[in-house]
Amino acid sequence: MSDNTTTIPSRFLEFGFKNEINKGILNAGFKVPSPIQEKAIPIIKEGRDLVAQANTGTGKTAAFGLPAMDKISGFKGVGLLVITPTRELATQVADELYNLGKYAGIKTVTVYGGSSYSRQLGLIERGANIVVATPGRLKDLLSSGKLRDFNPEIVVLDEADEMLDMGFLEDIKDIFSYLPQNRQTILCSATMPKPIRLLADKILDNPATVSIVDKDNATNKDIKQSYYVIEERERTDALIRLIDHSNPQKAIIFCRMKIEVDRLADTLISRGYDAKGLHGDMDQRARDEVIKNFRNSKVNILVATDVAARGLDVKGVSHVFNYHIPFDPESYVHRVGRTGRAGIKGEAITLIAPIEFKELLRIQKSMGAPIELKTVPSSFDLQAKELNDLTAEIEKTDIKDEATIILSALQNETDITEIALKAVSLLLSKHSSKGPEHIGFSEKEAKRLLEKFKENNGRKRDQRGRRDGRSRSRNRNNRSRSRRR
Ligand SMILES: Nc1ncnc2c1ncn2[C@@H]1O[C@H](COP(=O)(O)OP(=O)(O)OP(=O)(O)O)[C@@H](O)[C@H]1O
Ligand SMILES: [Mg+2]
Repeated sequence: MSDNTTTIPSRFLEFGFKNEINKGILNAGFKVPSPIQEKAIPIIKEGRDLVAQANTGTGKTAAFGLPAMDKISGFKGVGLLVITPTRELATQVADELYNLGKYAGIKTVTVYGGSSYSRQLGLIERGANIVVATPGRLKDLLSSGKLRDFNPEIVVLDEADEMLDMGFLEDIKDIFSYLPQNRQTILCSATMPKPIRLLADKILDNPATVSIVDKDNATNKDIKQSYYVIEERERTDALIRLIDHSNPQKAIIFCRMKIEVDRLADTLISRGYDAKGLHGDMDQRARDEVIKNFRNSKVNILVATDVAARGLDVKGVSHVFNYHIPFDPESYVHRVGRTGRAGIKGEAITLIAPIEFKELLRIQKSMGAPIELKTVPSSFDLQAKELNDLTAEIEKTDIKDEATIILSALQNETDITEIALKAVSLLLSKHSSKGPEHIGFSEKEAKRLLEKFKENNGRKRDQRGRRDGRSRSRNRNNRSRSRRR
C-alpha cells in the first residue's frame, strides 16, 4: 500500500477496496463510514441486489458509489448506471462519484434533457465507466438505438421511491427492458413507502434490505423542525420576518408551484435579499447558473419547487422554509432534509394556514416528524434580537486604522460619547425591521384552532366511516401518491 493509503481511516480499510478507491476516500476527508455505508457496502460488494433506506444527508451516494466503483474499476465500458429524478441531482451525483473515483481513472458522464444528444453520446463512446442519467433522456437514447453495447453490470435508482412512482415508473420499466438481465440493482432513498417496497421486490432479484430509519421518525435527527400558524394573506410577511429573525447562512424556500417560485423570488429580490428561483420551466443554462451561484454562495436564498427537494447536497444550508406545507409526507422528509446533513445541525420552518391542518397532521402521523408549534416573532422581538446581535458584533469588531482617523477628526468638535451614539445609530438605521407588529396566531390560539379542527375532522370521519366504510383509506392513499410535481 502507498504512503497515502496508510492514513485511511481503518474502518474504511476494512472494506478491502482497491488502493485507488481508498485514495478517493482519503481525499474526500471521510473519517468513519456512516451507518448506511457500514451496512450497505459489504452487501453491494457481495453482488446482491439491495434496497437501502437511510435518513437524508447520511451518505447514500458513497454507500453505493464506493463499492460499485471498486467493482468496475479497470474494466472497459459503462459498468455503473445511476438514475436520478432531476438534472441537478444527476450532476451532483456524477461530481461526487468523479471525486471519489478519480484516482481509479473512472470516467463519469451525465445524461439529461435540455443539452446536446450528440455530445452526451460522444462522451459515453469515448470510454465512460459511469453514466448518471435522468429517465427521459436515457430512455430516448436507448430506444433510438444510438447507445450501443450499453450493458452496465450495476444499476442504481437513486431516490428510488420517486423513480418507481407513477410519474417515472413507465420510463423506468422501458429503460430496464434494455438493460442486462443479470445486472445488480440497488434502490436508495430516505423514504420507502410500502407499495414501492412491494414493487421493488418484483423488480429486484432476491434483494437484501437495509433500513436505518427510525420507525417513529423518518426525518433526520439533526433537523430542528417548527411550524407557524398564519393567515393566508400573511404568508410572505411571516416568511420575511422568520428569515430576518433566523438569519440563515443559506436557505432553501420550497413552494408548491412554479409561478409562486417566480413571484416570491421577485418579492425577496425587491426587498434586498440575495434570492433566486429554481424550477422545471427554466432553461438548462439558467438552472445551472442558479445552482452554481447557490453552491458558491453568490446567492444565499434559493426559492424552489420540489425540483430541489430530493438529494441536493449544498454546503451551508442552515435553514429550509416550507412556504406552503407539501401535499406528500415523503416530500416533507426530503425537503427538510436539504439541511442537517453529514452531521451538521439545521432548521426547518413550515408555514401553515388553518386550511393546511390536514396535511400537517398527516405528515406528523405518517412520518412521525417532530414539528414544534411556535409563534412568529413580533417586530419588537426582532428588534430586540437585532440589538443583541449588533451589541455582540460591536464587541467583536476589530478597530480599523481609518476609524482612528475619523475619530480624531470628529473629536475636535464633538464629545466622544456623542460620536459613539451617532455611530451606533448609523448602524441601527441599516437594521430597521419592517412588516406588521404581529403576524399569525399565537401558540395558544393556534393550538385551539388545531384542536377544533381535529374534533370536526374526527366527527366528519365518523360520519363518513359509517356511510362508506373501508373504501376511504384506499382512496386517500391513491390521492396522495398521485399528487406529484
Ligand atoms: N463517511 C462520511 N463522512 C463524512 N461525510 C460524508 C461521508 N459520507 C458522505 N459524506 C458527505 O455527506 C453529505 C451527504 O451525503 P449524500 O448526499 O450522499 O447523502 P444522502 O444520504 O444521499 O442524502 P439524500 O437522502 O438527501 O439524498 C455529502 O456532502 C457527502 O460528501
Ligand atoms: Mg442522495
